[in-house]
Amino acid sequence: MAIYITGDTHGGNDEQKLYDENFPNYENCTKDDYLIVLGDWGYMFRYNPSGVENDDEFLGVDDEDLRSELVLERKRLYNITNKNYTTLVLLGNHDNYDRIDSLPVINMFGGKVRKFNDKVFILMRGEVYDIEGYKFFAFSGAYSLDKAYRTPKKTWWEQEECTSEEEEYALKNLSKQNNKVDFILTHTCSESTLKYLLQIKCCFIEHYDNQNRFFEKIKQNINYKYWFMGHMHQDYRLNEKEFLVYNKVLNLDQIQKQDEEIPYERFTFK
Ligand SMILES: [Fe+2]
Repeated sequence: MAIYITGDTHGGNDEQKLYDENFPNYENCTKDDYLIVLGDWGYMFRYNPSGVENDDEFLGVDDEDLRSELVLERKRLYNITNKNYTTLVLLGNHDNYDRIDSLPVINMFGGKVRKFNDKVFILMRGEVYDIEGYKFFAFSGAYSLDKAYRTPKKTWWEQEECTSEEEEYALKNLSKQNNKVDFILTHTCSESTLKYLLQIKCCFIEHYDNQNRFFEKIKQNINYKYWFMGHMHQDYRLNEKEFLVYNKVLNLDQIQKQDEEIPYERFTFK
């Protein structure tokens, strides 16, 4: 088995990476291979007024245009979610939390996940998972800079921003692991990382919010090996521990092996 990690897919607009040289092994994967998407998955994004997810034709949706958009989205969703590998999805700030929250919660990897089908599971905020012997801390969401231009519950969802209860829940779960995990999976990053990215002109987000500050606390207090983030739409390794991921499909074992063989040097996944 292998664990792969990639960045935002935006409901198919950014899924080409899953079919090309970035992911050369995808056809040989099995269900015991995992692909982790670091937020802005976006395959269940459109407003679904019927509230029903097990209806492929969305017959409960009166608006015909919306219904055909939902049907098209569903086709893309089934295409991407019926792969040989198992997809583990972290949510970002371009995901419809209302629809995702309607999926059933099950126990998996020693934590809670939402189940879409046997091949697709949504990682939940603040959980620590044991996947193939590795501990993963997952914390979804990010603040949308463009939220003033988006419509609540149709193109923007308040659940994208974490609550203090969710932060506490996460810290409690981390403390059960003696504040040590192998890997951290988030959509956005810590405050100091954001400042650094701004300084090197790798991103232009000048907004620091509660989640960035919470991640700063995590960065300072949690022992971890690697931290993987989406959101910035960049492929860049910032330092020994932090990775921005977008179009690359990283193989976790390969990164570790490479780091064992060659001491870390700053690179951009070339
Ligand atoms: Fe994105």
